Amino acid sequence: MTSSPLAPLADDATVIARVLDHIDHRTTDLADAAWREPSENYRSPERFAAEMNGVLRREPVGFCPSAALAEPGSFVAREAAGTPVIAVRGRDGVARAFLNVCSHRGAQVACASTGCAKAFVCPYHGWTYGLDGALRGIPHGDGFPGLDRSTSGLPPLDATERGGVVFVSQGPAPAATVAEIDQLPPLIPERFRFVKVDQLDVAANWKIAVEGFLEGYHIRATHPDTFYPIQYDNLNVIERFGRHDRVTFPYQNIEALRTVEVTERSAEGRLTYVYHLFPNVIVATLPGRMVMVVLEPLTVASTRFVTYSLSDHHDGSPAADDTLRDEESFAARGAAQDRAVIRSIQRSLAANPREFFEFGLFEGAIGHFHRELAAAIDGRAGA
Ligand SMILES: [Fe+2]
Repeated sequence: MTSSPLAPLADDATVIARVLDHIDHRTTDLADAAWREPSENYRSPERFAAEMNGVLRREPVGFCPSAALAEPGSFVAREAAGTPVIAVRGRDGVARAFLNVCSHRGAQVACASTGCAKAFVCPYHGWTYGLDGALRGIPHGDGFPGLDRSTSGLPPLDATERGGVVFVSQGPAPAATVAEIDQLPPLIPERFRFVKVDQLDVAANWKIAVEGFLEGYHIRATHPDTFYPIQYDNLNVIERFGRHDRVTFPYQNIEALRTVEVTERSAEGRLTYVYHLFPNVIVATLPGRMVMVVLEPLTVASTRFVTYSLSDHHDGSPAADDTLRDEESFAARGAAQDRAVIRSIQRSLAANPREFFEFGLFEGAIGHFHRELAAAIDGRAGA
């Protein structure tokens, strides 16, 4: 874990120029070396526990987009690495996070996955908590004469908002990882509003799910009728920033920019940026919209895809919902193809006789992910 400044990401014009150069030379960004990841790391319950306890339950992890906490009282509640968490925007505009656990008998006080509340009222006995987590009310409070209300609020977690993403650490997080979050570049522009969240459970290890987003080497074989006709096979710009990566997937219509002045070139609709926020969050730009996908590990062999949809033109109307569905349908077919592959990898995992998965020079962002994950588990510095 390095505490030096994060490498800056290239601007759109530079990325576009690198893409056009790759098109001209039939090349793609290459890693310095291949990576071998032990197959056992996808199967082992001990390794899974180390990933949960050593990283996901300790470090700052992307929880939801800031846009999902649009106004005071807006909240997101879900389990993160098996822990029930609420993130909520306070009346002072600050995003905070708490354990979603009533101090009385432990029921979850926020029941919906998203919403807007003036207070959190436990559905069991009605204990009530403010947006700051403080215990505000106990029905028939005279039944608890010895209770110290000042220490009976919702247990707080560390929350940080950066680049349009709310990060939560169940901590205590290493100082260097917190410092790295503070340096993240803008990820989700403010004009993007939260539209909805979807959840889908997939029978595959979470790292297999992450890997599916991080290379374009599979575009032709996996997506012959969806992404391949409009993108490129094996043509990506890959940038590393700290423990994170940005992988650029260009569309063939980027060719039209050749005749546009370099300073006038816009990436909108010409390429998709896939940001991998270590360890399990993907933020992607799509034509007219963005998604933040949290690949939430459930077990060593299953993962919940929590997808937050964001739009810069959705006005909340039914017509806008129809438009969004149209916009989604294309990428949804491609995503289903990816899930079919990752399920198939999982099904063969127990029988797979190979000691390693070999990630080639086109798959450098995956090797980087595994190297950083191993370092984080070991608590090593300077991975
Ligand atoms: Fe894919």
